[in-house]
Amino acid sequence: MSTFHLVDHPLIQHKLTIMRDKNTTTKDFKQLLDEISMLMGYEVTRDLPLEDVEVETPITRATFKRIAGKKLAIVPILRAGLGMVDGLLRLVPVARVGHIGLYRDHVTHEPVEYYCKMPSDIEERTVIIVDPMLATGGSAADAITTVKARGAKKIILMCLVCAPEGVRRVQSTHPDVDIFAAALDERLNENAYIVPGLGDAGDRIFGTL
Ligand code: PRP
Ligand code: URA
Repeated sequence: MSTFHLVDHPLIQHKLTIMRDKNTTTKDFKQLLDEISMLMGYEVTRDLPLEDVEVETPITRATFKRIAGKKLAIVPILRAGLGMVDGLLRLVPVARVGHIGLYRDHVTHEPVEYYCKMPSDIEERTVIIVDPMLATGGSAADAITTVKARGAKKIILMCLVCAPEGVRRVQSTHPDVDIFAAALDERLNENAYIVPGLGDAGDRIFGTL
């Protein structure tokens, strides 16, 4: 069964509170999302498998740990997920980056896919799908389905703010995918926006309000 991990370090809560403020500038919003993404990255990567490696230090030869296998792929859901990529890449600079383009239809609120490009060896990597907002969960559930169809086996979803409806949808559609988030908000409104939320994440990151 999928686990929901709330990553609520005081620094993350503080930065997220500033992001929620409607008067926060585009520049600050983008920078705070980047900082939170890096901080969340510590928790999201906590269970990466390790293997033994022999190293010759200047003093002696000994056995140490390194991350096993092909490592990571980061997959942002366009557009807003792009704002979470650089923070994770600072932790894991060798990670590959795939992209999924999805937008929510304004009437049905269901996702429409318009782009997909994945690393060719995605099936050998742990995939971290990133998107700041998990609202109805439709976009994330579709993105996970797409990545699975390309062969990915180990998938993690990393979000900033979730609605309970979105968490339930992803967990019921993809019980094998753990979710990491900085906040679990109250509910969705009649336009399927998260309440209290932070508004339209893509518009706030890219200044297209
Ligand atoms: C937002 C957000 C998620 C999606 C969440 O993207 O970044 O991808 O909505 O909603 P859901 O859980 O109900 O699917 P949006 O469709 O606004 O596209 P954008 O990032 O290009 O603005
Ligand atoms: N997409 C957003 O950007 N914000 C929401 O609250 C819901 C969907």
